[in-house]
Amino acid sequence: MSPINIRTLQAKKDQQEKFSVLTAYDATFAQLAADAGVDAILVGDSLGMVLQGQDSTLPVTVAEMAYHTACVARGNRRAARPALIMTDLPFMSYGTLEQALDSARQVMQAGAHMVKLEGDDWLIPIIESLGRQGVPVCAHLGLTPQSVNKFGGYRVQGREQERAEAMVRHAIALADAGADLLLLECVPSALAERITASVRVPVIGIGAGSATDAQVLVMHDMLGLNPNHVPKFVKNFMTDGRGVKEAFAAYVQEVEAGTFPGPEHGFNA
Ligand code: KIV
Ligand code: NA
Repeated sequence: MSPINIRTLQAKKDQQEKFSVLTAYDATFAQLAADAGVDAILVGDSLGMVLQGQDSTLPVTVAEMAYHTACVARGNRRAARPALIMTDLPFMSYGTLEQALDSARQVMQAGAHMVKLEGDDWLIPIIESLGRQGVPVCAHLGLTPQSVNKFGGYRVQGREQERAEAMVRHAIALADAGADLLLLECVPSALAERITASVRVPVIGIGAGSATDAQVLVMHDMLGLNPNHVPKFVKNFMTDGRGVKEAFAAYVQEVEAGTFPGPEHGFNA
């Protein structure tokens, strides 16, 4: 079967079909995820927390992201139907156009098919520039963990009316600038629904309710392996005697059917 690409994902939104995204950081889990029907694998800078044991994503480097991307790419290409690979550009690796281009080059040459950047309208010139160089971009809005120090903790974003309006404006502006995907993290479900309806490109959610076009979770969280604080939006899929691949498949099935996330996994305004 042909590999998933950004046109495949856009067609899913156009046909109102939901799709699933999952993080992976190595070859084995990437192959299992793609074989279970996950459409996009996120090589997230969450690897700083779940693999490295850091307290935040800030210490992660571009070289580390490129290393894990290369591992994921090798496993993914052994899958019957390879997924799209999206890699996070880490903290302070895309503050200037020059940095963004160099960071994107490193992860794309390692095997990513697109990059994800955290930010709002300040990303516009960067998205335009990456697009001209052939790099698709996902813009991550809402709770952007690289800004945890500025937020004063991991908190739901867009609860105040003014902030919610600004997020809608930014989402539209980023899509207009050429962002191929948007990702909303920890925003009220009604706001995520409004943003999803306001842009043509697919919107991926995490802690953003069930109305987004796609869902993403950190692999360790949805396998019930997180020994620390488990966020409200997480569901453990490794239940009922399932193995890893069956847990991935159950996640895919529930996202596509619209049964995950449930109302209990979302946030109110
Ligand atoms: O790094 C990551 O895993 C992410 C997701 C939680 C969206 O950015
Ligand atoms: Na991330």
